[in-house]
Amino acid sequence: MHCVVANWKMNLTSDEARIFCEEFLGRFVPEAGIEAGIAPPFTLLRQVSDLVGTKGVRVFGQNGHAEAKGAFTGEVSMPQLKDAGCSGVLLGHSERRQFFGETDAALAKKIMAAWQWDLLPLLCIGESLEQRDAGQTLAVLGQQLSILAETGPGPLWVAYEPVWAIGTGRRAEAPQVREAHAFIRAEMLRHGADTDVPILYGGSVTPESFPELLAIPEVAGGLVGGASLDPLKFAELIKQAG
Ligand code: PGA
Repeated sequence: MHCVVANWKMNLTSDEARIFCEEFLGRFVPEAGIEAGIAPPFTLLRQVSDLVGTKGVRVFGQNGHAEAKGAFTGEVSMPQLKDAGCSGVLLGHSERRQFFGETDAALAKKIMAAWQWDLLPLLCIGESLEQRDAGQTLAVLGQQLSILAETGPGPLWVAYEPVWAIGTGRRAEAPQVREAHAFIRAEMLRHGADTDVPILYGGSVTPESFPELLAIPEVAGGLVGGASLDPLKFAELIKQAG
């Protein structure tokens, strides 16, 4: 199975999202073995899920709180994501870790909360440039995945996103992606995960770079930021994964 997920981050208004969905659906052809998903900002979840959800496109939250409800101003819970039409949730994106203090301990709780509400977690992991330069890439990935010892196995997608490749136009080279994905698979198996958990690559994916990435063993698709804001490029990426 191949998966292509658009991460819109903090972009688009409702008018822009409507135009995106119309243009995207004009090109999108659902195919067996391909999972397409969109992670819009919270304000657009209901609208996007009404527009594309019925066409077999998954809708993901970009984050979710571990508690079901309560006094957590500014947060959105897993049942609220579910209620807005989501079937999954991005967790641990590097921007959440970097700018909002997301910790591995919090992420373990969020994964279990997602499962409780029947949402598919898409766990993002990846090393910073300093960590790569210091030869710590695999240790960092191993640490980020160690939360699976706490959560136990369950439905999961993982995205390997080297922080230095996100939004920079600087994609990781094929040998770097191959090494990281093989390591992630081995770690996941060690933690008791199913053999078929998809491991996506993310970081400056474009229609120009995607075919080479898809040819790498263990790359089951892409988590796409910048290029996914163009409906034609996003539809093209899904076609390439077919
Ligand atoms: P990018 O973002 O494709 O713009 O590098 C990827 C991501 O942050 O998921």
